[in-house]
Amino acid sequence: MCGIVGIIGKENATDILVQGLEKLEYRGYDSAGIFVTGKNKEDHLVKSLGRIADLQSKISSEVQGTVGIGHTRWATHGKPSERNAHPHTSSNQQFILVHNGVIENFEEIKQEFLQNKQLEGETDTEIVVHLIECFAEAGMATKEAFKKALTVIKGSYAFALIDKNDPDTIYVAKNKSPLLIGLGDTFNVICSDAMAMLAETNHFVEIADGEMVIVKADKIEIEDEKGNLVYRESYEAQLDLSDIEKGTYPYYMLKEIDDQPTVMRRIIQEYTNTVGDAVIDDKIIGKITGSDRIYVVACGTSYNAGWVGKAILEKMTKIPVEVHLSSEFGYNMPLLSEKPFFIFLSQSGETADSRQVLVQTNELGLPSLTLTNVAGSTLSREADYTLLLHAGPEIAVASTKAYTAQIAVLAVLAKAVGDKKGNQSSLEFDIAHELSVIAAVMETIIDEKMVISQLVEDYLSTTRNAFYIGRGVDYYVSMEASLKLKEISYIQAEGFAAGELKHGTIALIEDGTPVFGIITDQKTAAHTRGNLKEVESRGAHNFVIALASLAKETDQLIIPDVHPLLTPLVSIIPTQLIAYFATLQRGYDVDKPRNLAKSVTVE
Ligand code: M6R
Repeated sequence: MCGIVGIIGKENATDILVQGLEKLEYRGYDSAGIFVTGKNKEDHLVKSLGRIADLQSKISSEVQGTVGIGHTRWATHGKPSERNAHPHTSSNQQFILVHNGVIENFEEIKQEFLQNKQLEGETDTEIVVHLIECFAEAGMATKEAFKKALTVIKGSYAFALIDKNDPDTIYVAKNKSPLLIGLGDTFNVICSDAMAMLAETNHFVEIADGEMVIVKADKIEIEDEKGNLVYRESYEAQLDLSDIEKGTYPYYMLKEIDDQPTVMRRIIQEYTNTVGDAVIDDKIIGKITGSDRIYVVACGTSYNAGWVGKAILEKMTKIPVEVHLSSEFGYNMPLLSEKPFFIFLSQSGETADSRQVLVQTNELGLPSLTLTNVAGSTLSREADYTLLLHAGPEIAVASTKAYTAQIAVLAVLAKAVGDKKGNQSSLEFDIAHELSVIAAVMETIIDEKMVISQLVEDYLSTTRNAFYIGRGVDYYVSMEASLKLKEISYIQAEGFAAGELKHGTIALIEDGTPVFGIITDQKTAAHTRGNLKEVESRGAHNFVIALASLAKETDQLIIPDVHPLLTPLVSIIPTQLIAYFATLQRGYDVDKPRNLAKSVTVE
């Protein structure tokens, strides 16, 4: 979703902003813009619809300065257009603002304060820059006008504001949307994601909700809501520029699929000891062991991982687990058990839908754990505990390695809790060994890339729709496999419980409809095969992905056996490659699918 960058105190502000915006491209956006000033007091505002490359083509050599802000916009209020792209300016052009988030009371603000202002576009951000101007016109200094505006605004925001009359300062504030200050020796930067500014610094300072920051080239001043100065230590980002480069890969998604065996080995290193036992903070284990029900709350791929996690957690811990969509849970909270424990799954740790649930569970004083890939992310900071996924930065919008990392970390957690409770199913489970087998099997499947590419051509080259079917964990994998296929190849795909098809959905099967059957569970294999026969009789073009011990010679893809609880970690791999090749063959951008954002920071 929207991204923010800013720089103060460097000669080549324009290049730094553009490079920063390029690093934020993966988050998803439809337009972009920069404002640069400082040098010779000349101001430059450049905006463009489309990609950063389009913006770049509009930036002439005169666009130079020592201070600037930049933005990638993912449209919420007002369609994608140059007019609606940020930065936005006030009527007298004095104030320039970029914003991530959603201003909920923008209509009210318009009515109450901006009756006589001429607005250019339809965005909620434009309201804010005019509101600041309004307070400045009433005699307030810029800082006061900005702070006053913050008291009027309701909603989520990360703001960066420049006053052209004082280009030695960037004013920054945040509430619910991510924003960081990066520290340099003679300069400072701002960014909604550390990746954007890694080329400049790897020392960052977090900003808390409600704080306002004055950013100058040689210092930063953080003020809390009451105006008190706050001192906060910086931290060193555990990221390397090479982590976020694609190297020789044509797309990040392919690199991230290939990364998965390494991620499994990293999880073994991080979360198991030399004798192979799970190593998780005792406080987390104590809280879960003392709970009577686990609630997993997540969105999209993380939600799908939650279902697989439920199967593993219940087997090992004997504690009932419910899995919920964040966007539903928050506003339709089910009746909770007496001693609930919440697990938030989020690759980015910034998903607004999940965060609104966490805010509520915190208000209720309920214990929570976030599993995330991003240290210091909002969900990580606001939950009681965090377990990192250690998957390395995931750049492609389509999540792959975060999904398998979530399942693997949940499996380690389940093992640690199960062992603590003395459960036999857990004590018998050698997690380090089983995950190392998984890593090796993942490699075997990934080596079959070209076979999968050919099969994709045979099955998906012309189809408009497709089905993934399975039972139990194979159904959960089907849900994720179909999400992957639809979000990047735009093939309408459904992940369905194999036995449920005949209760209605089988009506959609036509001559040639591709149906992918996933078979990794001995107790349901025969039934799923039966369901595949039913669709075949109605014209379906069946594609079977089966575990070796359950496979038939006619199956299209056969996967080596792994521990029965962990089969989703390997059965998902061919489906990720199927989505990748289907997209490639259709000529779409694999990493940046239409309408989607990597980090969904609005509800
Ligand atoms: O960062 P999160 O895991 O909280 O994100 C949740 C979803 O937005 C995300 O998984 C989305 O579904 C991906 N595009 C799936 O590939």
